[in-house]
Amino acid sequence: MLELEGIETGYGETRVVHGLDLTVREGTVHALLGRNGVGKSTTLKSVIGQLPVTVGTVRLAGQQISGRLPHDIARLGVAYVPETRDIFGALTVRENLELAGRLAGPGADWTVDRIVAFFPNLAERLNNGGHELSGGEQQMLAVGRALMASPRILMLDEPTEGLAPIIIQQIFGKLKELKASGLTILLVEQNLNFALGLADDISLMGRGQIVWRGDAAALKADDQAHARWLGV
Ligand SMILES: Nc1ncnc2c1ncn2[C@@H]1O[C@H](COP(=O)(O)OP(=O)(O)OP(=O)(O)O)[C@@H](O)[C@H]1O
Ligand SMILES: [Mg+2]
Repeated sequence: MLELEGIETGYGETRVVHGLDLTVREGTVHALLGRNGVGKSTTLKSVIGQLPVTVGTVRLAGQQISGRLPHDIARLGVAYVPETRDIFGALTVRENLELAGRLAGPGADWTVDRIVAFFPNLAERLNNGGHELSGGEQQMLAVGRALMASPRILMLDEPTEGLAPIIIQQIFGKLKELKASGLTILLVEQNLNFALGLADDISLMGRGQIVWRGDAAALKADDQAHARWLGV
């Protein structure tokens, strides 16, 4: 579904990601894990065109998307929930969702009504401003907004960050439902149990590159990989 082949990206002269290969299979959850600062968020930003892919190629369902504008990449079906969530505080929940829906073509799978049915917490918040939401509600809105574009792949950057355990459980359940519905997901996460509970495939990132690949069982069994690439 999504293929990153030998990509390089970074900030100006600073190359952060170099020679990164990653394949996210259709209908699976792929977790991209690694220590702070190795380039996980940078990688996601390059996929959506926020940062330039200076070397290598990114393909979505066989079609090259690297080099295109962020708007076009979104329209082709790549949705992204940034670590900062970036919801519009001055707009209502409904307005946030409707705005995102403009990215979807005709015959979109997701509507405001369907988002609200999926995240009932947002139902009584529809007319509240984005700035009035709790952290958990903001994360649900951020995911809802990404879904409004009816994406082919959903990329999430640390969706559990700063949330209470009970909210994390709710988000976990919702991502399980999305996975069961067949949506392809690329997940960056520091919460290892959360990631292992969802992921079909796991890639560990060292500085700027993938250094280990496998599934949850293989990672649990590999103490060395843990210590070397995830340990603090
Ligand atoms: N806007 C920026 N300008 C310059 N360098 C940056 C910028 N953002 C991040 N970096 C650098 O790029 C490297 C990778 O950062 P990135 O945010 O991608 O890491 P990460 O794996 O997502 O880490 P974390 O787990 O802390 O979120 C770091 O060395 C960071 O300092
Ligand atoms: Mg990050």
